Amino acid sequence: MKILFLGDIVGRSGRQALAEFLPRLAEQFSWDVCLANGENAAGGKGLTLNVAEELLSLGIDCLTMGNHTWDNKEIFQFIDDAGYIIRPANYPGPTPGRGHTIISSPAGALGVINLSGQTFMGPYNCPFAAVEEILPLMSDCDGIVVDFHAEATSEKVALGRYLDGRVSAVLGTHTHIQTADEKVLPQGTLYITDVGMCGAANSVLGMDPAPVLTKFTTKLPGRFSAARGPGMINAVYLDLAAKSIERIQQTAAS
Ligand SMILES: [Fe+2]
Ligand SMILES: [Fe+2]
Repeated sequence: MKILFLGDIVGRSGRQALAEFLPRLAEQFSWDVCLANGENAAGGKGLTLNVAEELLSLGIDCLTMGNHTWDNKEIFQFIDDAGYIIRPANYPGPTPGRGHTIISSPAGALGVINLSGQTFMGPYNCPFAAVEEILPLMSDCDGIVVDFHAEATSEKVALGRYLDGRVSAVLGTHTHIQTADEKVLPQGTLYITDVGMCGAANSVLGMDPAPVLTKFTTKLPGRFSAARGPGMINAVYLDLAAKSIERIQQTAAS
């Protein structure tokens, strides 16, 4: 099974970058399943139904989420019915939506799990314990991919090691900066600490730099918005049979 996983999509520039780059990527790579983190896809904060459907129309099969899942309140109206969206599985109480799903593809069934880290991320339940409850439900899957939405590199590396040999891939998201540590772990699990982001190339993590700089320099509250302009995409391409993981970084020329 071959999988394209796209890092956090940020705002319109991210969506436009996907529309521009995905057809070109399809000439280089052939994937059976396309996954993307969508927590910032609507204006940098959360997801709307229109934006989710736009991303599906681009060929994305499943959207994972993260700490920005609930930023756009519209999601409460559709997340329970949108089986292609998963949010972190380790929320502490009853939570709308679902934390995992199984996707049927021509190459077989793919289990997808979304987890949030705890370090610097708020009061989530233990992701290590949460994944133990989900894995038995995926025993018949041909592959399992975990999107670990987390801040601390140590926690991400540790979860990769914890799941090594038990899932096909552990892919980090959330920091919006792609790390250059893609690897095959000793027991065969594909791993990267962070896939990166799909968004405006000239930005601070996909956001307009000016209000971010104002906040850093004055400590006054500011309103951040997704940056516009030429986009870039960060992704990884996985070949589960070949046990290979390849980083992808493409930026628009202008
Ligand atoms: Fe994000
Ligand atoms: Fe995040």
